[in-house]
Amino acid sequence: SLLEAAHENDIELEGKHADWNVGGWGACEGSLACSTCHVIVMDMDYYNKLEDPTDEENDMLDLAFGLTESSRLGCQIV
Ligand code: FES
Repeated sequence: SLLEAAHENDIELEGKHADWNVGGWGACEGSLACSTCHVIVMDMDYYNKLEDPTDEENDMLDLAFGLTESSRLGCQIV
């Protein structure tokens, strides 16, 4: 998972939403119907290696609290 990968690579993920649960996805369980799995990738090198977000992910990200340039939905990062 994203969290395991981040851990292995010493990447900090800052959960910006109270619903972000370590070890689990957000409210919609990865179906791109919420933004509770919003994460901010702190390492731009890592961010730039990720696949670009889909339009659907971007739409949900627009609703996320505290959106940043390196925001992603955790459930969409594999
Ligand atoms: Fe809902 Fe990721 S868990 S969009």
